[in-house]
Amino acid sequence: MPHRIIIDTDPGIDDALAFLLALASPEVQLEALTTTQGNVVVETATRNALSVLELAHASQIPVAQGSMFPLVQPLYASAAVHGESGLGNAVLPEPKAQAISQHAVDFLIEKVLAEPGEISVFPIGPLSNIALAIRKEPRFAKAVKQLVIMGGAVREGGNMSPLAEFNIYVDPHAAHIVFHSGIPITLIPLDATHKCLVTRADVEHINEVKSPIARFVKDVLTPYLDFYEANTDFGGSALHDPLTLATLIAPELLTLQELYVDVDIHGGVSMGNTFADFYQIARKPANMKVALDVQGRKFIELFVERMIQLSRKIQD
Ligand code: RIB
Ligand code: CA
Repeated sequence: MPHRIIIDTDPGIDDALAFLLALASPEVQLEALTTTQGNVVVETATRNALSVLELAHASQIPVAQGSMFPLVQPLYASAAVHGESGLGNAVLPEPKAQAISQHAVDFLIEKVLAEPGEISVFPIGPLSNIALAIRKEPRFAKAVKQLVIMGGAVREGGNMSPLAEFNIYVDPHAAHIVFHSGIPITLIPLDATHKCLVTRADVEHINEVKSPIARFVKDVLTPYLDFYEANTDFGGSALHDPLTLATLIAPELLTLQELYVDVDIHGGVSMGNTFADFYQIARKPANMKVALDVQGRKFIELFVERMIQLSRKIQD
């Protein structure tokens, strides 16, 4: 039986590639997308979610629009990395489908409470919607099967401040609520995602197949590759959000460790810093599994193969 998941998202270049990987993976049943602010404002996130589903002939999958703002912090939503549209150089037509009228938080609560223990939620943007669901409906935390979160940096430096990763930095108060909710969590931090580097050669390999999917992958990734080339010595671009799916499609590639992890919400230079108690100094039980390592190149090869399969399938 495929794993039933809802992706909570701020698309976002790598978010969009996570949708495509989910749709290309028989191990996964993508039930819905819920949107939040983060890489872009929430209205743009919703439009992008609808248009990428349409590109992949998956418009039957519902999209619910969520939080416009972080819980406490001011709105971030800058075009710095993902471009004004949030999808790099990709230009997709205005989606025909519309978001459902229900707010994402209410949608998450309803879906999860309707089938306790069946639905996993994959937050790959700021955690605002998840925190609101936990606070609005106390039964949510017991009913959701698990959270697989792209966020944080444990031993790795930050990418939004020297000490904080973007998704956590944008809404650290939401992360604090989620981390202490008691929900089973797997955290996919920069420690792992910075080892999953897609290259221009990978993009060209996918584009050996003529398909709007392959074209889209190239159009979203080109400015992302340019950004990483100009700002890092990584030799490729980190596929942060798609790596969350490795927990379902290739768990053997991840090195997970059960740890007590907390997040700094006190402000100042370390706001949004995620830290692990490696030596159990605080004597607190582990609250999540953390991916501290990954066979990154093998994951990228799996991603490329599945993009090629999806490209062969979708030709118009
Ligand atoms: O730090 C990486 C995360 O921030 C990814 O989810 C990316 O989409 C951005 O939201
Ligand atoms: Ca994201």
